[in-house]
Amino acid sequence: MVATPTKAKYDIKDINLAAQGRQRIEWAAREMPVVRQLQERFAKEKPLEGIRLTACCHVTTETANLAIALKAAGADALLIASNPLSTQDDVAACLVADYDIPVYAIKGEDNATYHRHVQTALDHRPNIIIDDGSDVVATLIKERQHQMEDIIGTTEETTTGIVRLVAMLKDGVLTFPAMNVNDADTKHFFDNRYGTGQSTLDGIIRATNVLLAGKVAVVAGYGWCGKGVAMRARGLGANVIVTEIDPVRAIEAAMDGFRVMPMAEAAKQGDVFVTVTGNKHVIRPEHFEVMKDGAMVCNSGHFDIEIDLKSLGAKATEVKEVRNFTQKYTLPNGKAIVVLGEGRLINLAAAEGHPSAVMDMSFANQALACEYLVKNKGKLEPGIYNIPKELDQEIASLKLKAMGIEIDTLTPEQNEYINSWTVGT
Ligand code: ADE
Repeated sequence: MVATPTKAKYDIKDINLAAQGRQRIEWAAREMPVVRQLQERFAKEKPLEGIRLTACCHVTTETANLAIALKAAGADALLIASNPLSTQDDVAACLVADYDIPVYAIKGEDNATYHRHVQTALDHRPNIIIDDGSDVVATLIKERQHQMEDIIGTTEETTTGIVRLVAMLKDGVLTFPAMNVNDADTKHFFDNRYGTGQSTLDGIIRATNVLLAGKVAVVAGYGWCGKGVAMRARGLGANVIVTEIDPVRAIEAAMDGFRVMPMAEAAKQGDVFVTVTGNKHVIRPEHFEVMKDGAMVCNSGHFDIEIDLKSLGAKATEVKEVRNFTQKYTLPNGKAIVVLGEGRLINLAAAEGHPSAVMDMSFANQALACEYLVKNKGKLEPGIYNIPKELDQEIASLKLKAMGIEIDTLTPEQNEYINSWTVGT
């Protein structure tokens, strides 16, 4: 097949995959009515006209629909992958060939290529950075101070990125506004919980085809993502153990009906382990040591640091690829530990990431956050900003409407009651 001519520069696997990518992007669009409506408005109003925008996201069918909406808004958008294993190569091809959007992302790219793409993202001289994990913003601050004056602001997709932005603000190096997309209600309640919940189990199953029913699943971390993973693992019949370091979350997990214990104990009992803590070396040598033969470990947190794979690799007498995204590490004691997705986000490495219906709300937040930054250019002090309540509510209302769900409104009497303090017992 002959590739469609394109003006966009790119570094992708194969431009001839575009037709397949287009079909899949259109399929995802059916579940993304909020982004579609924003795209229609953006096409008329062009709120991002003349804005150079760099997006560092997982290159999926859902991200493609966001990128198309941003382009419709007038943005000069460039896309790179936010993870070496999460790119859908056919999607990257379609964005380049059919939409003239420059894409730098290849599934399985090595770390050097990943970092080169981050540099390319900055060579675009962005005014707005959409980041997922804060790698582009961190590189900008560390290496490209001279480009700071170009920046209107950034929008951050994920918990890990927000943690990094908070640290940057504390160190006084974040000198522009950052929109906290992650903490919008229409983002984390749905994407982090139902999105991570479903797609993580999807990734484990696609990689291994194991039956979860009757297995002991250990979920490390009971934030919104951990809650989703634990809930869906239980739904598939697993006996779920939660590990935590936060006492409040640990009580929550216990009262949600999960067993809670330290990893040192859970390590002996688990058949499948999922890390979703955002911290490093949550599963480490002393845990591997006591695991059952054939225990499976994977990660659904943003970075591949939660499982100490370096130590596991150093100990292993053999590492063998036994299925796609499934590697068996044999230890000197003869036991095997099975690592899924190289310790990278299993939902994006072995499956397709969160389903479109939740990404619809996450990416509506991203699109509106970009518009907000442009509308408020020069008016926002450096800092981390929540998505304004009205935008969150607007997204929820549009989503409800698209789902065909109607809800009540306050009566005048209720409205008066809820806004007064004078009426008590
Ligand atoms: N993060 C998690 N799932 C995703 C998806 N489907 N697209 C983009 N980013 C994601």
